[in-house]
Amino acid sequence: MTEPEIRPGDANDLVALEALYPAAFPDEDLLPLVRALLAEAEGAVLSLVAVSGSALVGHILFTRCGVEGQGAEAALLGPLAIAPDRQRSGIGTLLIAAGLERLESCRTSRVLVLGDPDYYGRFGFAPDAAILPPYRLPQDWHDAWQSRAVGVGASAISGRLQVPAPWRDQALWLP
Ligand SMILES: CC(C)(COP(=O)(O)OP(=O)(O)OC[C@H]1O[C@@H](n2cnc3c(N)ncnc32)[C@H](O)[C@@H]1OP(=O)(O)O)[C@@H](O)C(=O)NCCC(=O)NCCS
Repeated sequence: MTEPEIRPGDANDLVALEALYPAAFPDEDLLPLVRALLAEAEGAVLSLVAVSGSALVGHILFTRCGVEGQGAEAALLGPLAIAPDRQRSGIGTLLIAAGLERLESCRTSRVLVLGDPDYYGRFGFAPDAAILPPYRLPQDWHDAWQSRAVGVGASAISGRLQVPAPWRDQALWLP
């Protein structure tokens, strides 16, 4: 199978995204979050899609965030969704790598993610106790809150992550 093309998402992708998310997350409705993030102001999110032929087979979002008391800019990775019949074929890896590469050329110095350390550890993410998530996480999720540096000269940052409105829903941060 040929490698999918990775390109920025646009408004024409919405119909395909509305089908992708329920398929990738059958037990969780992430569409309200995805729709709200995509409706944020220009530049507030980085949205990338993976396209194979005419099919949209993957999507990733990075949200630009601040860190309380710091001038630094951070980005929050998520959600990431791959079409069930194309999972474990490297598409998630392609989308993460493409996103990190694009963020390198922005002012972003750190990328955060709440996810499986076994998966995100492959991309250089490691548990982060210095940048606090917007809400207190369950004790056994602390290793799931991870970050990695991007770009040059990224210094240590600490403080609470300041997320835009779509992420300010505690239910998104709970099991
Ligand atoms: C989790 C998910 C994003 C991974 O994307 P993917 O394209 O399937 O993963 P890749 O093919 O890039 O995976 C690369 C490697 O990670 C492993 N991997 C995939 N999903 C994994 C998971 N959930 N936990 C641990 N390892 C995982 C794969 O086995 C593969 O390893 P290998 O190269 O040694 O075989 C995708 O499977 C998905 O959309 N799942 C449903 C939605 C979800 O859970 N999203 C989580 C992010 S919010």
